[in-house]
Amino acid sequence: MPFQEPGYPSWAGYQTSIYSKLIPPKITTDSSRWEVEARARMPSRSYNYVNGSAGQGRTVRANLDTFTRYRLIPRMLSGATSRDLSVTLFGKKFPSPILVSPIGVQSIFHEHAEIATARAAAKLNVPFVLSTASSTNMEMVAEAHAAASVSVEGTEFAKADRWYQLYWPKDDALTVSLLRRAEASGFSVLVVTLDTFSLGFRPADLDQSYLPFIWGEGCAIGFNDPVFNDKYSSQLATGSTLSIFEKLKLLIERSQGSISLFFALLWWHKQVFKSVAWIAEVYSGTHKTWEDLKLLRNSWNGPIVLKGIQSVEDARLAIKHGINGIIVSNHGGRQADGAIASLNALAKVTADEEVKKSNLTILFDSGVRTGSDILKALALGAKAVLIGRPFAYGLALGGQEGVEHVLKCLLAEADVTMANIGRKNVAELDRSILDLG
Ligand code: FNR
Repeated sequence: MPFQEPGYPSWAGYQTSIYSKLIPPKITTDSSRWEVEARARMPSRSYNYVNGSAGQGRTVRANLDTFTRYRLIPRMLSGATSRDLSVTLFGKKFPSPILVSPIGVQSIFHEHAEIATARAAAKLNVPFVLSTASSTNMEMVAEAHAAASVSVEGTEFAKADRWYQLYWPKDDALTVSLLRRAEASGFSVLVVTLDTFSLGFRPADLDQSYLPFIWGEGCAIGFNDPVFNDKYSSQLATGSTLSIFEKLKLLIERSQGSISLFFALLWWHKQVFKSVAWIAEVYSGTHKTWEDLKLLRNSWNGPIVLKGIQSVEDARLAIKHGINGIIVSNHGGRQADGAIASLNALAKVTADEEVKKSNLTILFDSGVRTGSDILKALALGAKAVLIGRPFAYGLALGGQEGVEHVLKCLLAEADVTMANIGRKNVAELDRSILDLG
């Protein structure tokens, strides 16, 4: 039975299928080359956007280096002929321990953007997390995701799940509107990103003065929101936005003598000014507090997961505030440069006695690049891991097929590595399999 059909007997089957075809795959299986090969396919500003990080990139490097520092200890003769990589998240069983992380603005990587990624995730029954900064409207993504889901009848698995990631707007009515829409579209878990109330200092984007949102990319969910649209229309009507003369003056100033830039801005000005209003909601610089979580709890019926936790103290506060899960993440080093490696944060959080006693579901991201990275994060106590940049490179390299290829490679490598270190299931992955040299 092929691995992607119900039953999911073996993710390692992807490796066998490549050998048995006798022709090389369209996209490399070498995860260290996805970034380089995607770079050749993308405009430089799109590449800089995905590859870039905050400051001097110390945290993004620390994320990766820490994975290298931890090594797996193989065991022999343990009978690991078949392996079970399934995990249960919020009462639903999935055939693999990965999720697709929320990455915004996917239209800058491929024309099919979030639709391609959602379909790829649905086909592999990997939970898909949709970003508030999506370049495709939420309702369209939900429809495409539902239509692409594989049948799980007769299996123990839940059907493909979609989660919604909130960039928490300044305005409460807008927040509630986004949550209502997400619930109505069948998103089952709310992921609240806490580390991006203020955008990180990202030199690669700053040096090109490039923020995709300004050009309306990644604003689809906002531009289709009734509360946002009403608010923006009333700002226009009451003149609380800039006057036409002020806007013209601003466009002339921004063009800095470049006629082509002036006309580009003039052509886009409606979009640009609306985008700026949306940015002011979602990257507002207005930082919320633990008390503010009440609004989300009262407006969302399913599990709530906080993304961006990096300390034991915050994990404990999440438990205290009745939160269901956390994603130990530093946004792939894109927010606070100099912050600790996310894998070290995971090790500390999962070792805490108070956390261990709780029902908190601990997920992980930031720096997962290989199948063995997945196993290392699971061994340090993550219930599942989110795949970030690698799937974005896959999207740039081949749309839906590219994302599927990347996820299948990572899972095949994880499965084969489990076999080769002699572990049969996720429960057997614990700290005893790790060595720090
Ligand atoms: C992100 N990330 C992110 N996170 C989030 O909560 N909402 C978002 O819209 C985005 N957008 C986004 C865009 C790009 C281009 C990147 C690279 C990342 C962060 C993402 O969910 C995840 O935390 C990181 O990608 C993990 O780091 P690595 O493994 O990709 O290095």
